[in-house]
Amino acid sequence: MEQDFKKREIDVMEHLEEILRAVKKGVLVTTKSNGQVNSMTISWGQIGFEWNKLIFTIYIRTGRHTHKMLEDSNEFTLNIGFGKKTAEILAFCGTKSGASIDKIEELGLRLVSGNKITTPGIKELPLTLECKVIYKQLQDKNVILESLTNRYYPKNIKSDNPSSNCDYHTMFYGEIVGAYIVE
Ligand SMILES: Cc1cc2nc3c(=O)[nH]c(=O)nc-3n(C[C@H](O)[C@H](O)[C@H](O)COP(=O)(O)O)c2cc1C
Repeated sequence: MEQDFKKREIDVMEHLEEILRAVKKGVLVTTKSNGQVNSMTISWGQIGFEWNKLIFTIYIRTGRHTHKMLEDSNEFTLNIGFGKKTAEILAFCGTKSGASIDKIEELGLRLVSGNKITTPGIKELPLTLECKVIYKQLQDKNVILESLTNRYYPKNIKSDNPSSNCDYHTMFYGEIVGAYIVE
């Protein structure tokens, strides 16, 4: 259940370094679709401008449960946390699939009702970007360097495994329409 925690709106431009440093270690992408809220760990992502919009781009392999949810909802939150507890949450959400378990319930995460979109934030990972998908595209396997294909798509782990390396990535461009820190 989502709750109305106190939120402080922030200017994303003042938190860019903090956000990028966090992405390198891991952050959550949370999606909501068909009554389910699910979070997965990512460590690939970019922030920047196109069409005069501030955009956070994520790269999600097509086999992920999150991919399916994003296709339906076209929005997500990016959840950034700090400290030991965050590392445990990221490890869990990066190795289990929402297709078979309720990660939010298993971890006892508290959902924060959204400001600009319906996807909630996560109290335990308080820095939140609210993103609306404005563009998506499957990356073209024919133009990825062979060395990268060999490294990232060796295809020996099937799609239904959280560590799968068969599927290519869809880029989801999320226009940042809201940003807050849960207090
Ligand atoms: C540190 C870390 C970073 C990850 N980054 C990504 C990523 O950028 N894109 C992706 O598709 N999967 C990534 N994964 C794998 C997913 O988090 C993992 O497959 C997860 O179980 C998918 O959850 P879902 O099935 O509920 O969508 C990462 C995993 C870890 C541990």
